[in-house]
Amino acid sequence: MTTAVVNPYLDGNFAPARSEITASNLVVLGELPADLCGVFVRNGPNPQFPPRGRYHWFDGDGMLHGVHIGNGTAQYRNRYVQTQGWKLEQEAGSAIWTGLLSPPQPDNPYGPSKNTANTALVWHSGRLLALWEGGKPHEIKVPGLETVGPYTYGNQLKTAFTAHPKVDAVTGEMMFFGYSIAQPPYLHYSVVSAQGELLRTVPIDLPVGVMMHDFAITEHYTLFMDLPLTFRPERMQRGESPLMFESDRPSRFGILPRHGDNSSIRWFEAAPCYVFHTVNAYEEGEEVVLIACRMNGTTVLNASDNAGERNSDIPQMHRWRFNLSTGAVVEEQLDDIPSEFPSVNEQRLGRPTRYGYAARTAPGSMPLFDGFIKYDLLTGSSQTHEFGSGRYGGEGVFVPRPGATAEDDGWLLTFVHDEVEGTSELVVLMAQDMTAEPVARIMIPTRVPYGFHGTWITQAQMAG
Ligand SMILES: [Fe+2]
Repeated sequence: MTTAVVNPYLDGNFAPARSEITASNLVVLGELPADLCGVFVRNGPNPQFPPRGRYHWFDGDGMLHGVHIGNGTAQYRNRYVQTQGWKLEQEAGSAIWTGLLSPPQPDNPYGPSKNTANTALVWHSGRLLALWEGGKPHEIKVPGLETVGPYTYGNQLKTAFTAHPKVDAVTGEMMFFGYSIAQPPYLHYSVVSAQGELLRTVPIDLPVGVMMHDFAITEHYTLFMDLPLTFRPERMQRGESPLMFESDRPSRFGILPRHGDNSSIRWFEAAPCYVFHTVNAYEEGEEVVLIACRMNGTTVLNASDNAGERNSDIPQMHRWRFNLSTGAVVEEQLDDIPSEFPSVNEQRLGRPTRYGYAARTAPGSMPLFDGFIKYDLLTGSSQTHEFGSGRYGGEGVFVPRPGATAEDDGWLLTFVHDEVEGTSELVVLMAQDMTAEPVARIMIPTRVPYGFHGTWITQAQMAG
């Protein structure tokens, strides 16, 4: 008798949803806030076909899960992002591309990799974009979640587009970057106007290609993280992964004026680390302050020269202070409890924020999150919300209450899956009282797999 080894990312609630559905009048436990009107959309990997080669969690085709809330009712729909790769594989009836854990496919007639559009979403200048850091964004209709197609700013976009662009809610500008691990310039930085024009794209020099997942903005500056998860093709000749975490290489943080370029960037060095996600950054006197989930290293792509090191792959809330006049760097650990998928009130992105939210990492080897931690970065205190036994969630998207003046006046939304009951729900928590029970639990009549990043689009934005 043989036992098939199941990839854990294709099993349980990591397994893909098999059908696209639309369901109205969802059962709500508790009460939907009357002023919570809009659509919550979350992206995540959902392989359409059994994978070719080893499957990595980052490989699956993007699927959007949307919950449209208004007039006390809620509607759910899930839709694939219909990328060109998705369509080609649909026609072929099987997977064409291998994933991150296989060698690149230079001879694949359709291109060496598939833009899965599976990672995140951004709403900017009246448009929803599904994002994948290796390629172009895809425009998505709301609330129907139909794919319009790749969005290229009238063919002005010549680079990849991060999954974590930053929108300045005050000016309406959007900042993004595109990186290339294989050839210089390894990084390009772009600014989009509030009206949606791609204003400028400038190259930024890096000594070597790195995997760069996120960055940060302040009112006047943009901050890049050149962290030592490097790409060196010569490693392939040694039979190693070309991407590897180099534990003896410092972290570099580059700060430049928002409309600056490579000539105006200033680099600060700090201890080696990896950061997937920033919470926020802001200016305080002569300092730029960065809050982010920091790890001593990462083996996320199964390659590190310090895989055994303490705290590798353990993300913890940290704060850096970069002094623009003295060049000093101060790095401070804010918590020893592991957490990731951080969020903030994005109305105040780039401005001083007191509160940060993060999903608490559950014990074990899988990326499961058993609650939220709300950090009060002023007092150093925190509040925890636990999803309950056998219940796991993800990133909490902060939705400000319309007309709110307090930073934390709003709700935190996330999909939670109950592994015992086999049910999925959208949980709505009041951010000002995190220890309370959810104000509403919107029961989803199908399983919502664990995924990545989401966003909230107000009814007014959709109508606008
Ligand atoms: Fe991310």
